[in-house]
Amino acid sequence: MDDAARAAELRDLVHHHNYRYHVLDDPEVADAEYDSLVRELAALEDKHPELIVPDSPTQRVGGPVSGLFAPATHRVPMFSLDNVENLDGLEAWEGRLTRSLAGAPRAFSCELKVDGLAVSLTYERGRLARASTRGDGTTGEDVTANARAIDQVPLVLRGDVPTAMEVRGEIYMPVSAFDALNRIQADRGEKPYVNPRNTAAGSVRQKNPAVTASRRLAIWVYQIGFLEGGPELDTHSEQMAWLAELGLRINPANEVVDSIDAVEAYVRDAERARHSRDYETDGVVVKVDSLAEQQAVGSTAKAPRWAIAYKMAPEEKTTKLQTIEINVGRTGAVTPYAVLEPIFVGGVTVTTATLHNEGEVHRKDVRPGDTVIVRRAGDVIPEVVGPVLSLRRKGLRRWNMPKRCPFCNNPIVLPEGEAKARCTGGYSCQGRLREHLAHFAARGAMDIEGLGYKTVDLLLTEGLIADPADIFTLRSDDLDGRDGWGETSVANLLGAIEAAKNRPVANLLVGLGIDHVGGSVARVLARRFGSIDALARATEDQISEMGGIGPEIAGSVAAWFVASENVELISKFREAGVRLEDETRGDPGNEILAGVSIVITGTLDAFSRDEAKAAVEDRGGRVAGSVSAKTTALVAGVSPGSKLAKAESLGVDVLDEAGFRRHLERGPSSEQT
Ligand code: IVH
Repeated sequence: MDDAARAAELRDLVHHHNYRYHVLDDPEVADAEYDSLVRELAALEDKHPELIVPDSPTQRVGGPVSGLFAPATHRVPMFSLDNVENLDGLEAWEGRLTRSLAGAPRAFSCELKVDGLAVSLTYERGRLARASTRGDGTTGEDVTANARAIDQVPLVLRGDVPTAMEVRGEIYMPVSAFDALNRIQADRGEKPYVNPRNTAAGSVRQKNPAVTASRRLAIWVYQIGFLEGGPELDTHSEQMAWLAELGLRINPANEVVDSIDAVEAYVRDAERARHSRDYETDGVVVKVDSLAEQQAVGSTAKAPRWAIAYKMAPEEKTTKLQTIEINVGRTGAVTPYAVLEPIFVGGVTVTTATLHNEGEVHRKDVRPGDTVIVRRAGDVIPEVVGPVLSLRRKGLRRWNMPKRCPFCNNPIVLPEGEAKARCTGGYSCQGRLREHLAHFAARGAMDIEGLGYKTVDLLLTEGLIADPADIFTLRSDDLDGRDGWGETSVANLLGAIEAAKNRPVANLLVGLGIDHVGGSVARVLARRFGSIDALARATEDQISEMGGIGPEIAGSVAAWFVASENVELISKFREAGVRLEDETRGDPGNEILAGVSIVITGTLDAFSRDEAKAAVEDRGGRVAGSVSAKTTALVAGVSPGSKLAKAESLGVDVLDEAGFRRHLERGPSSEQT
């Protein structure tokens, strides 16, 4: 075979493997083999530059485009879609179609509305001839060089190709690619990208195709613009199936249904699955599937009548960042947070959002007075994504961490090598003390109902308490007659305080707020030592002799019990009648789940998460947050998350709630009967 023929063969092979890899996600050959084909082709082209053709797979990234993007006029305008925001709107749309067609449409194509940027791709005799953005719908920008750099955009189509065709689709950035890109930004101390959509658009509309190529962009094709010399098909869905055969990426979530009820079910599913996909969606596009029916209902000047976009609630909105304030946590860590003009986003009204630390404020470059993008997706806590720079007023100043704590006026310091600044005031800082007391009274610790932040604030400002032990010496005349404190509420609070005197030692240990001692560690310590006094007498070595307690934790516990203010605190608890010893000390010999690592997903009937965790730990087992090869069993309740698939793929035992109970009673061997 001569070099020209071999080069042609290699081009076909590499195109084929690109299709398997990038479009079907199902490679046939190992990466090394693929690389060697590409290298052989590149070597031949090096030797004979005349063999290089523009759509050779080696030519994805050419030289940078010069000047502005050239305008590209669309032969068929790129319409936008009319929107509806609820199911009523969808039904009204179907009603209009039914009247216009004198009967309901035969079928609908339901598609996810992917949040990216619309592009038009023109193929001539199967070769990518031009790519352009939507622009104003009539004229966009010619971004051919960049589109060629996106692996998922075929340079040549496969099989029986049409004479000329334009297709439309959405270029997007997978969420995983976006997160990876932002991790790199953070490692470099650079500003994070705002969201996948803007990043995808920016990656296509910048001048260097090598940058586009590095961004792991993806595409779903969803429409034919024009077609010459192709098959005559009757429905939109047949067209999409045909485009898939040509090697274009068609979203497998597309679904043809035959009633508006089924459309609504699709919409509900799409909303539910919104955060389990690797790409962002902002709605559902519904199209009349029959092309004859599409023709019959036609278009308005702006949008087709045969398609509609159902919009999901936006997860990002802009609002004003009024100020940045700081909060001192119970450990003394200082956290800046944004005070926002209230904004309804992702289903809740957001008024504040954490900014984590000073470095984060600078990286994001958000300044008091900025208009900022606020995001709340699913159940994730709201975050300030970044400023809208085009709306920034002149002269807005960067925010810096105050030098002194606004609560206690002691210096704020940034310990060497750490991201989080700290208040140096200890518990003399009212900001920190308040958090400490609220933590002491919270669930998981002493669980004193009615003793939340509001009451803590009252007790502090009135000088009624100064440390957690003082809570147990409160009397009714301390509170009687104060604003909002009637006889009943006082009695309820004092009753709750009385009840809390009897909490297990583990709860008291959690409440003390010793560094590194959370619920799990506290339960291990309580099981082993049985009383505060025994633990206080233990040396660091004795503490770290136990499974699950590392030297750092042991050091922190031992140091805590040595400090004189803590010795005094414990004796105040004792005087106030707080129980410092467990009644029935867990039998350390009876640890039927020793060495067992359990992961819990979904909701259980008879246990809260905390209770299930405590039940495992009381038996010497461990509860982990994620499934790995080391996991002994996954407990799957109702609506399990992705952990279930992970466990199944790793061959980890999966227990239902009944199986979990057997485990707790009889240990892991109970499943092997
Ligand atoms: S169809 C005439 N299908 O949503 C049909 N659009 O406002 C035109 N989009 O500009 C569009 N996913 O950027 C269609 N499956 C999908 C889509 C989709 C996302 C975007 C597209 C368009 C906008 C419509």
